[in-house]
Amino acid sequence: MNRLAPILIDWYTRCGRDLPWRRTHDAYRIWLSEVILQQTRVVQGLDYYVRFIERFPTVDALAAASGDEVLKLWQGLGYYSRARNLHAAARTVVESHGGVFPATFAELRTLPGVGEYTAAAVASIAYGEPCAVVDGNVYRVLARLFDVDTPIDTTAGRRAFAELAQSQLDISRPGLYNQAIMDFGALQCTPVQPHCDDCPLSGRCLALAAGSVAARPVKQGRTKVSDRWFHYLHVSSNGQTLLRRREGCDIWRGLYEFPMIETDGPADFAALASDPRFREWLGDDWHLVRTVELPLHRLSHRVIHATVCRLEIPTLGPAVASWAIPTERVGDYAVPRLLERYLIKYPM
Ligand code: ADE
Repeated sequence: MNRLAPILIDWYTRCGRDLPWRRTHDAYRIWLSEVILQQTRVVQGLDYYVRFIERFPTVDALAAASGDEVLKLWQGLGYYSRARNLHAAARTVVESHGGVFPATFAELRTLPGVGEYTAAAVASIAYGEPCAVVDGNVYRVLARLFDVDTPIDTTAGRRAFAELAQSQLDISRPGLYNQAIMDFGALQCTPVQPHCDDCPLSGRCLALAAGSVAARPVKQGRTKVSDRWFHYLHVSSNGQTLLRRREGCDIWRGLYEFPMIETDGPADFAALASDPRFREWLGDDWHLVRTVELPLHRLSHRVIHATVCRLEIPTLGPAVASWAIPTERVGDYAVPRLLERYLIKYPM
């Protein structure tokens, strides 16, 4: 007999957040909100959601947009492969499903970027399919309630938690239950200083009884983080600025940036100026305005050490002519967060 679900749902009815995607059954909107919420907290995600829905009220509108426009709207959320997948999934829905969002977990799972979590969230919330979601909040709530010490970042842990989550699901109200447990994790059973004093589940919480709340969930270890050194050349010439699209299968594919020289370690300006790429792009006739060291930029697996060299040159050579855009248009392009911050501090 499932005892937790009614308590969670009762709590959610009283204390859950009133959010725009909770007032719709439109699978497109629910999917969009879930993809955004994997990337950010609800407060910030709300703004992005509203902007996306205003600009792309339907999956057809999103599918018809350019990749650049989708990336621009996504700018600041990070993890840009999610935005590319969002766009690709919208196109798949339009091209292969006649513009109607697939209605089952299994079909949703075939869309680009739709993993177990997103498929379970959309299938349960939009279509009432009994699939339990497992996100960071769910891991925490279940690890505490059942005092589970299996690390969540292991194959065995993921499997055990998926089973536990499914066993607790209220199959008659899966969408409501899933949102209830996620909100409960976000608001009540918080990572630090959880509100155990006024928790409706405190009498059933095994970690609370054992004094292990702060130690749940258990994580095995951090993934190794590597360092990278990016040196941007912010070059302008007669009202034009150089901006390139990032290609290849590296981070930030599809975003725009100033021409960049990556080095294996810290490099000063003299080292950059003697780099063959610098000479190929700028020749010998340039004027250095300033160099700026950007704050360390931390991603999940990387720390980016970035500098920006602000340069002016009298004419743009053939190697870079195709990267030139009018300086006042730079703001139209999606750029990585660290450059967005730089451009706010040093407006063009
Ligand atoms: N986090 C991600 N999706 C959520 C949802 N639908 N409700 C509460 N928290 C969430």
